[in-house]
Amino acid sequence: MAYNDVYEGWKKDPEGFWMEAAGAIDWTKKPTKALFDENAPIYEWFSDGMVNTCYNAVDRHVEAGNGDRTAIIYDSPITGRKEKVSYGELQSRVASLAGALRSKGVEKGDRVIIYMPMVPQALEAMLACSRLGAIHSVVFGGFAANELAVRIDDAQPKAIIAASCGLEPGRVVDYKPLLDGAIKLAQHKPDFCLIFQRDEKLAELTAGRDHDWYEAQEGVAPAECVPVEGNHPVYILYTSGTTGAPKGVVRPTGGHLVALNWTMKNIYNVDPGDVFWAASDVGWVVGHSYICYGPLIHGNTTIVFEGKPVGTPDAGTFWRVISEHNVRTFFTAPTAFRAIKRDDPKGDLIKGYDISCLRALYLAGERADPDTIEWAQDVMKVPVYDHWWQTETGYTIVGNPAGIEALPVKIGSPTVPMPGYDVQILDEGGHPMGPNELGAIAIKLPLPPGTLPTLWNAEDRYRKSYLKTFPGYYETGDAGMIDEDGYLYIMARTDDVINVAGHRLSTGGMEEVLASHPEVAECAVIGVSDQLKGQLPVGFLCLNKGSASSDEDVIKECVKLVRDKIGPVAAFKLAVVVDRLPKTRSGKILRGTMVSIADSQAYKMPATIDDPVILDEIKDALQTIGYAQS
Ligand code: COA
Ligand code: AMP
Repeated sequence: MAYNDVYEGWKKDPEGFWMEAAGAIDWTKKPTKALFDENAPIYEWFSDGMVNTCYNAVDRHVEAGNGDRTAIIYDSPITGRKEKVSYGELQSRVASLAGALRSKGVEKGDRVIIYMPMVPQALEAMLACSRLGAIHSVVFGGFAANELAVRIDDAQPKAIIAASCGLEPGRVVDYKPLLDGAIKLAQHKPDFCLIFQRDEKLAELTAGRDHDWYEAQEGVAPAECVPVEGNHPVYILYTSGTTGAPKGVVRPTGGHLVALNWTMKNIYNVDPGDVFWAASDVGWVVGHSYICYGPLIHGNTTIVFEGKPVGTPDAGTFWRVISEHNVRTFFTAPTAFRAIKRDDPKGDLIKGYDISCLRALYLAGERADPDTIEWAQDVMKVPVYDHWWQTETGYTIVGNPAGIEALPVKIGSPTVPMPGYDVQILDEGGHPMGPNELGAIAIKLPLPPGTLPTLWNAEDRYRKSYLKTFPGYYETGDAGMIDEDGYLYIMARTDDVINVAGHRLSTGGMEEVLASHPEVAECAVIGVSDQLKGQLPVGFLCLNKGSASSDEDVIKECVKLVRDKIGPVAAFKLAVVVDRLPKTRSGKILRGTMVSIADSQAYKMPATIDDPVILDEIKDALQTIGYAQS
């Protein structure tokens, strides 16, 4: 079948399309229909079905006689450890862990925060929660205690599951002080913590609150899968918005199962049993959908890789993992390939490995620049598919449906909308625009199954952030255009979200931290172009009149403050002191113009600028840190 037939088929009969896809999921009680639109524009899918995520990701494969198939391959070039976990073993481990959680009071609907590095136990923790119908919220290990505390207060977890440490090249990240610090900072206190001890750094357990991962499982009965309603949240994943308060994206159980399962063959072109590798982190949406749930629901083997594209031990690591584990489909962020290309520009290291098992590379998370795509194609000799999606959707909005029909690649475009998504380009007034015209990218409601129905405890914010600007549409926050062949091009964000090494970060959040420095009167953070990470944050600081501290000291303190408050992942290392910020007459900071100056791009003098001379001052300041060179 051709892509066009499938897409048009969905358009004609979305209900039939999704009910058919739902047939690949094992329901305790089948849903009577797909879409529930009674509360439009808040939509739900499969709400009256009963189902369990963990059953579909683990138990059903064992019951089907595939218990010996490898579910998880753990490969840690940082520690040198490798391990294979079969579906049968995964079932007993997860049932036992879920039993331990249940014995300590975790039930359906309770929230559990997971703060873990890239070890199989992170997936086991996620699956144990979904086995009980508990709602997990994984927090990325590169966030600081304060960010963890914010999530604890929002999700109000009954329990926190953490490891004793994470491992970054050359550095052990001690999780326990971060965990203790976060619990101290948070208003809400969890009933207990479950700690997975790693040899690299044992954590001292807090008596009465912390329990050891294995000891907690001794003598408890394994837990069975608890069926939940199709619209019951399987997880909450926090993502950056325009302010420091992260948005809790809610993932509904039924739609998540149906949609992820559909993507595995139709987009990633894998069959059950094939090895699928997403080199990301469980803390991000890619990790949720394609390290944990998607491959397991579909009966694939997934890889948990604890390493980096370079330096663990070298830029050949990806090739080693692909060839050693027989990877068929590989997924990562363009920044990883930029890092490899920088270390091994000619791709010499690939020559030492046979990667003929690989069928395609998929890139997402940030703009895939043509140089990187072409380089990857040249050295790997497989098709490279860019695809565009967001934490909010949980899977591809626009991509190349290689399992249906591999469409011609147009470099610079993630290709075409997937069934379920009616993607349109709108002008400021919400009117559809013509081919090749730049506008806001919006998706006609309803969004398909598995996408966010709302934000955790924040329905008003959901409506305001996504539904208000263009009634009847979901506002993606990205701008772009669609060409005459229906190919989409993503050009920029329309808000203050930036993308650093494939990580979505809020400049507004960084500004809130900088503004808390006693010497900072006013500030702005922008994302400037960076050859490796795509974008990097740069801070502009206006200091209080008569400030006693030197500019250098304030900059140093501000860099430390962002690292301490948000975490190393913010990669905030560049800041300059300026007298004034460029603003419109109504007081809006001209961040877009500042970005153009930093990137040496032509820009139009904003008609509403308060005082154009400030732009020269901004340019001078940027030149001191190596930007705005022409
Ligand atoms: N726990 C603790 N710290 C972490 C962390 C984690 N899980 N992940 C990253 N960090 C730290 C890094 O050690 C680094 O600290 P430093 O300032 O002391 O050097 C900082 O956060 C910034 O990390 P990052 O932006 O990832 O830069 P890097 O220089 O360590 O690595 C790349 C650069 C390109 C190799 C790396 O970003 C990468 O592998 N990216 C892949 C993209 C990806 O997985 N994206 C996810 C979405 S698909
Ligand atoms: P996240 O929610 O972290 O996955 O970030 C989503 C955002 O990353 C999108 O809204 C885009 O701005 C950007 N993004 C993701 N994938 C792509 C892509 N393939 N091309 C361009 N931008 C992308």
